[in-house]
This record gives sequence, C-alpha cells and structure tokens, in this order.
Amino acid sequence: MATTMAITSPSILFLSLPILLLISTSTTFSSPVCNPSDKTALLAIGASLKIKASRYRGWTPATDCCNWVGVVCDDTTGRVTALNVYPLHVSATIPSAIGDLPFLTHVDIRQQSNLTGPIPPAISRLTRLTWLRLDKNSLTGPVPTFLFRLPVLNYLDLSHNRLTGGIPPAIASSSLNYLFLSRNSLSGPISSYVAKSNVTTLFLDHNHFTGPLPLSFAHSVVEDLDFSSNRLTGDPSLLFGAKSPRGIVSLSRNLFEFNLSAVVLPKGLAVLNLDHNRVYGSIPPMITKLDELQVLNVSYNLLCGKIPPGGKLGKFFAYNPYNFFHNKCLCGPPLPACK
Ligand SMILES: *[C@@H]1O[C@H](CO)[C@@H](O)[C@H](O)[C@H]1NC(C)=O
Ligand SMILES: *[C@@H]1O[C@H](CO)[C@@H](O)[C@H](O)[C@H]1NC(C)=O
Ligand SMILES: *[C@@H]1O[C@H](CO)[C@@H](O)[C@H](O)[C@H]1NC(C)=O
Ligand SMILES: *[C@@H]1O[C@H](CO)[C@@H](O)[C@H](O)[C@H]1NC(C)=O
Repeated sequence: MATTMAITSPSILFLSLPILLLISTSTTFSSPVCNPSDKTALLAIGASLKIKASRYRGWTPATDCCNWVGVVCDDTTGRVTALNVYPLHVSATIPSAIGDLPFLTHVDIRQQSNLTGPIPPAISRLTRLTWLRLDKNSLTGPVPTFLFRLPVLNYLDLSHNRLTGGIPPAIASSSLNYLFLSRNSLSGPISSYVAKSNVTTLFLDHNHFTGPLPLSFAHSVVEDLDFSSNRLTGDPSLLFGAKSPRGIVSLSRNLFEFNLSAVVLPKGLAVLNLDHNRVYGSIPPMITKLDELQVLNVSYNLLCGKIPPGGKLGKFFAYNPYNFFHNKCLCGPPLPACK
C-alpha cells in the first residue's frame, strides 16, 4: 500500500517515510530467531535454575529465545551473546549447560545467595567471553585456572562468594584487566604471578591473604588496588615511587610496616587508605601537591610529626580528624596543635 501511495504522490511518500522507517526498525528487532541449539541450552539452564515463565518473560519452548528476559542475541545471526540471570531465590548450582552457548560474550549470574557449588569447568568452553560476573552468590571451591585461560576475558568479578585457595599462576598470562576477588576466603601469599599480569584493577580485600607483597609489584601495571582487611605483612612501599601508575591504593587493616616519610607518592594518587597498620615516620609534605587526591586515611598507625597544611589535604580533610586519629604523635590541624 505504501508503494502505491509513493507512485501516486511524492509528497505522501515524504510524509510516510518515518512510518516506513518505523516498520523496518521493528522488523530488525524481531528478526533474530533463536538458534535451536542455543535454545536447547537455555531451556536446560532455565530448568536447572527453575526460571518460571510466570515470573520472567519467555523461557518457554514455544517462544523466540531472543525475546526472553535476560537473553541477548546477535542481531544478524540470532546466536545468544549475553545472559543475565535475575535474582531467582533458587537453591542450585551454576548449570553446566552454560558451556553450550558458544557465542556468549557477557555473563552475569549474581546475587543468588543460594547458588552454591564450584564454578563449572563448562565455562572454559566459552572462548568468546569478555565479561563474567558471578559475584554475591555462595560459590565454593577454588578460583579456577581455566578462567585465566579464556582468550579474551577482560572483566572477572567473583567477589562475595566462599572461594578458597590462592590465585592460580595462569593469571600472569591471562587477558584480564579487571579482577575482583573481594570478600572470599582466599589465603596464602599473593603470588608474584599476580603482579606480573596485565590486571590494572585488582580488588583482593576481605580475604585471608598472608605474607609480604612480592617484589614484582614494583613493576606491576596495576593502577587501582584494594588489599584491605587481610593479614599481609612487610613493607608495601614498593607500590609507590614517582613513576608508579597507582591511582587507588587501599591497604587498610593489615600488618604492613613501613616508613611513610621515605616514600615518593605517585602524581596520580587519588585514594590512599593505610589505616590500621604499623606505618611509622611522618606524612610527606608532597601529599599536598597531589592534584588527584580525594581520600586519605592514615588513622590507627604509628605516625608522628605535623600534618602538612594546604593542598587538597587542607580543602577536604582539615575538618575530619578521624582520618588521622590514633597515631603515635601526629599533630596540627585537624588534630590538636603540635607542642
Ligand atoms: C536460601 O535457602 C534457605 C534454606 O533453604 C532459605 O531459608 C532461604 O530463604 C533461601 N534464600 C533465598 C534468598 O532464597
Ligand atoms: C599484556 O599487555 C601487553 C601490553 O599491552 C600486551 O602486549 C600483551 O599481549 C598482554 N598480554 C596478554 C596475555 O594479553
Ligand atoms: C624515615 O625516613 C626518613 C626519610 O628517609 C628518615 O629521615 C627517618 O629517619 C626514617 N624514620 C625511621 C624511624 O626510620
Ligand atoms: C578512616 O578510618 C577510621 C578507622 O577505621 C574510620 O573511623 C574513618 O571513618 C575513616 N575515614 C573515612 C573517610 O572513611
């Protein structure tokens, strides 16, 4: 009918163009029809996780899986590229059928407090995976080596689970840039393989790591790190230095022991949390020259001397004595005047 109008009147064609565009857009949206083998895998996942069509759109054999809630398909091939499992309140393990979705690039299975058991080896078959978030479940077992062998995995979040053991050496050759392992039960020393990896954001806080940091951290590319609330010891000052790429450094609540006066703080430092350690010496005056600095906490250490006045330190921290509390002999605003 639109064609007939177009022939009879150019002005009507002009007016009807937006309508034609709308029609063709909606056609594009409905065009991906789920690949049958992907649908089989998804139905197996849905059965394991008890995903009920009554609560979530789709997830029935009769419908196109590209329209199911939590499923994303490639526009042209109809292959499933992303899976986002919503909170289901189900007691289950991660189904191995996930390994039968070979075109997955993004997987989010999060916040399922009764999702238990280990991370299934089937995930090692997802060679196109760039993004994997399995945080805030109750997963047990190790951080599996096969995750670090996935060729293009860039982002891995396994935080808030019950994982045990250490970080596998394979991390040194992994493609990861973002690694979040916070709030598990990981233990042992942080190995030099971690420092040799390409990970630039590394969150290992709230675990049971022990021992000193490996020397290779001096040359590590890590920019943002959180090692707080572990049982780490020794001198972490190898993390600093004029050429260090560090932006966020959180070392709170460990057993670190070092002389803060002897440290050269990197120019890009934005967050420095050192509270609850055994840091001695004084706060270096150069701290007032750090333009990026947003957070500083040195409370509960053994620091002495005058808090350097001025810079960001003056602007943001002057009236927050809690960031400086409970040291050996720190003094000056926001603490009482030096004697
Ligand atoms: C998890 O399982 C326990 C025991 O079966 C149950 O009491 C609890 O409500 C479940 N939690 C969720 C979020 O489903
Ligand atoms: C690590 O990064 C370097 C520099 O960007 C790159 O040449 C190298 O291939 C990366 N390694 C891996 C395993 O991706
Ligand atoms: C800390 O380092 C500073 C500067 O290098 C030095 O002057 C000072 O004696 C050191 N303090 C201690 C307790 O070692
Ligand atoms: C710094 O650490 C102390 C001790 O844990 C805490 O009371 C204070 O709130 C912290 N400051 C900030 C800004 O988080």
